[in-house]
Amino acid sequence: MSVSPATATAPGKTILLGEHAVVYGRPAIATPVWQTVASATVTPLAPDSGCVIVAEDLGETIRLHDGAADQPLALVTRLALAELGITQEPDWQITLQSTIPIASGLGSGAALSTALVRALFAQAGQIAEPQTVSRIVYESERIYHGTPSGIDNTVIAYGTPIWFVRGQPAEAFVPPVPFTLAIADSGIRSPTKETVGDVRRGWEAQPARHEALFDAIAAAVHAGRKAIAAGDLALLGALMDEDHALLAQLGVSSDPLERLVTAARAAGALGAKLSGGGRGGNVIALVTADCQVAVEHALLAASAVRVIGTTVTPVG
Ligand code: MEV
Repeated sequence: MSVSPATATAPGKTILLGEHAVVYGRPAIATPVWQTVASATVTPLAPDSGCVIVAEDLGETIRLHDGAADQPLALVTRLALAELGITQEPDWQITLQSTIPIASGLGSGAALSTALVRALFAQAGQIAEPQTVSRIVYESERIYHGTPSGIDNTVIAYGTPIWFVRGQPAEAFVPPVPFTLAIADSGIRSPTKETVGDVRRGWEAQPARHEALFDAIAAAVHAGRKAIAAGDLALLGALMDEDHALLAQLGVSSDPLERLVTAARAAGALGAKLSGGGRGGNVIALVTADCQVAVEHALLAASAVRVIGTTVTPVG
């Protein structure tokens, strides 16, 4: 066990296609966003200090032995310690920091938990396998999200683009040609738990309508996978537009998000959609080198509080 600080990071994420329907067993494609990161540092404390989690951006300090069972960061700490075979509370301070905006669809909660678990493994001198990290972080996602599909913890723990179907092993997703997304934050916080809960209530009230929408989203996701494999970015953009329209029919778009996707398309984006839970949070626009700057300006002019560019690159 190390006596010097151990540090680990985890990226944000964005869902390229398939959110919400993925909760109901349909496929989705997600990619990490390394331009925003969460980090965790474990520092040894004096004997008998106990384990303290300091989440600087959340303004929270949690003493592990006081942490409630449903406190997500205390929960993942306990689960990680158990996985490591550490039965006695260690005298460690875990300091968490993040540049990922909270409740904006970029996976801030899953990224904080992932960085935390990885730092605990590093401090214990053990390797944190992505499957193990993802399994532990999923438990905190259940607190944040209610009925999560598991896509956020999976893409963040793997740190690579993935094809994801709930309950199945994730498949690394390798684009043969790079493509760039402009990710625009509406500045409106919208907890995923609320939109996921609203979609569930809609599905319970009108199951046939919702199943048909989920099937149409799944068809767009399958077609999107083929478009990526063929390097057909024009088609991928059109499928993002289609997915967005279906998500709007599910009731998870909003006027500010519509303004952002409309502005991005008008400025030349190949396609644009909400990403994540919706209502607020982020939209993503598929851009080319020719239109990227114009799209970013258009998104800011349409009231985005921040635009991040990320390029999904071929592996190897
Ligand atoms: C959240 O990033 C994606 C949703 O599909 C919820 C989930 O998959 O758990 C909205």
